[in-house]
Amino acid sequence: MSPLFIANWKMQLSDVASVALAQEARALAHDAVTLVLCPSFNALADVAVAIAGSDIALGAQDCAWEERGALTGEVSPEDLKQLGCTYVLVGHSERRRELGETDALVGKKLRAACAAGLMPVLCVGEDAAERAAGKRGAVIARQCSAGFDAVADLRPSEILVAYEPVWAIGTGVSAAPEDAAAAAVSIAALAASHDIHARVLYGGSVDADSVGAFMARKEIAGVLVGTASQTATGLRDMIVALQAVT
Ligand code: PGA
Repeated sequence: MSPLFIANWKMQLSDVASVALAQEARALAHDAVTLVLCPSFNALADVAVAIAGSDIALGAQDCAWEERGALTGEVSPEDLKQLGCTYVLVGHSERRRELGETDALVGKKLRAACAAGLMPVLCVGEDAAERAAGKRGAVIARQCSAGFDAVADLRPSEILVAYEPVWAIGTGVSAAPEDAAAAAVSIAALAASHDIHARVLYGGSVDADSVGAFMARKEIAGVLVGTASQTATGLRDMIVALQAVT
């Protein structure tokens, strides 16, 4: 299976810039890579047009926890699907930290995403204090269990889990590949104990120089990338590096 490269553009790019970058992505050969672009909500429709007919997939950075309702400002997973999304991130640490998203809410979002037929990417990972206190395993287990419990009865054929240590996001300091691989093993085992097949990604300061070391680990199915995916050069270098390791 080709490695997944999920580009998280966060709130960094305007609609115009997102479309331009999507067009750049489209012009790159990436046969050996499954590329998923996650622009902000406002750019989804235009990016969908920019990548139409290519093998690039579209993802959203978040979704509502209900299909429909009086939820001002929220975006239904069903509507994301109608827009052409096939992937959606849930529980990104920036949302957990800045907006107080709890494990329970993230579990509901995961459920809503699965119910809508989107491929969810459940983001988990410890922060610096939790890491220092030796709580990495416990934090990952708690976050994953909340998600897996919320969807177990839906029997999703597969879900994606991104192990993203909070201290590694946007800092230029990524986790050691062996630590990411160990986290991936425990996440996959926990998923299996819920009868769920999980493929695990790593995220947190991945760039063209470091991606090879992560992809050399068979436990890691791909990468979730912020900074190094947000420019044409970064995107191209990442794809070249990924092609080289596959
Ligand atoms: P980063 O972001 O690659 O800039 O560390 C990753 C993410 O937040 O998904």
